Amino acid sequence: AAAGGSRSDLGGVRVVVTAGGTREPIDPVRYIGNRSSGRQGVAVALAAAERGADVVLIAAHVDDGVLAEASASARLKIVRTGTAAELGRAAADEASAADVVVMAAAVADYRVADVSESKLSKDAAPGRGLRLDLVENDDILAGLVGVRRDGQTIVGFAAETPGEGETLLDRGRRKAARKGADLLAVNQVGWSLGFEANENEILILTAEGVVVETTRGTKREVADALWDAVLAVRRNPGQ
Ligand code: CTP
Ligand code: CA
Repeated sequence: AAAGGSRSDLGGVRVVVTAGGTREPIDPVRYIGNRSSGRQGVAVALAAAERGADVVLIAAHVDDGVLAEASASARLKIVRTGTAAELGRAAADEASAADVVVMAAAVADYRVADVSESKLSKDAAPGRGLRLDLVENDDILAGLVGVRRDGQTIVGFAAETPGEGETLLDRGRRKAARKGADLLAVNQVGWSLGFEANENEILILTAEGVVVETTRGTKREVADALWDAVLAVRRNPGQ
């Protein structure tokens, strides 16, 4: 991958990037969340803007300091969201006019079935524990792939913890086939790997499982490699 910097190879390209992690309310003061800081998605959005793209960044609970970096870019509009449903609506709205959509956000797979209007209290059932009913959220990426226009490129991200006897590539290929996005960027995560880290290692696969790029480096370097891969598939669809 070429080094980032003063290229304008994304000039005129309209880009939507989702970043961060959605939070699903339990009651007015509690939520189910995840460890995504939004750094990788913001790096993808900033790299695109610096390479000339017009960017909409759909942020879900991105760390304030990370979002501040993004708000300094003139080519970048920020839309703030909270839950998976909100992020899904914003993504659908913004994607209709986009050439490239990158789903870097960690979208909650489930939401609480009945969000309590008042703060849950142990007083309701002292010493008895708590069960929450969860329902599956819509797959936003699958929805975008389902209505993809000609010439539109849709990219997913997957954080994986490969199991025994299984490689990151095996898992990535299975998910890439299931998701049907033009590209899937796959990285390995663990308790101390990936989320808050500044360095990231990534495989970029097509839906057919072809490895377009492998890269390790800072989130910014990964972002530039991702845009190189996007440009490659846009020049040569169905490679
Ligand atoms: N994604 C999405 N909507 C969801 C869940 C995930 O758009 N409800 C997107 C993510 O933004 C990411 C991609 O799908 O770009 C892969 O997310 P991942 O959680 O790895 O996929 P899942 O299909 O949810 O698979 P898993 O059961 O392994 O979590
Ligand atoms: Ca998931």
